[in-house]
Amino acid sequence: MRIILTGFMGSGKTYIGRELAKKLGYKFIDLDEYIIQKEKRSIPDIFKEYGEKYFREIEIKYLKETLEGIDNIVLSLGGGTLQNKNVIDYIKKNGILIFLDADVRSIYHRVKGDQNRPLLAGLTEEQKIEKIKTLLEKRLPLYKQAHYTVRSNLEDSIPEVVENIIRIIKDENIKG
Ligand code: S3P
Repeated sequence: MRIILTGFMGSGKTYIGRELAKKLGYKFIDLDEYIIQKEKRSIPDIFKEYGEKYFREIEIKYLKETLEGIDNIVLSLGGGTLQNKNVIDYIKKNGILIFLDADVRSIYHRVKGDQNRPLLAGLTEEQKIEKIKTLLEKRLPLYKQAHYTVRSNLEDSIPEVVENIIRIIKDENIKG
């Protein structure tokens, strides 16, 4: 089984993905980490040197690489990997897509001190909150096309979120 986690920056995809994989005994891949290894550059450096358009192209190339031929994995996507319907359809054909749904307050709290998110770099506090709001609103219709949605706010602990996902997977197994 392939479990793929989507959601906005700061929704907990990496932490939860890693814990989930550990619990299931699956391999864990974080798409951003995979890109950094392959490109031998940080995400901010890729944005700076080649621009967002290039990043979006390689993101899809590496998404396919991570999903092809591998089973029993948990794959955490980047916040912008669900670029369009084609990408979403491709992912849904290749695994169970789960949306980690976090609110603006939780997202802001988790990303505020992080220098590794080029989309939020150089913004004031208010600008960051505004950017999170508008980008989240724009992306919600994409995230909501996931097979399942699991809440991942500040008050939802990592073990709780992991358990909620495991429950979903068990039901999937019963359905076959
Ligand atoms: C992005 C999210 C980041 C990373 C890149 C772009 C986005 O991943 O892929 O900075 O467009 O939302 P995380 O969601 O893991 O921070």
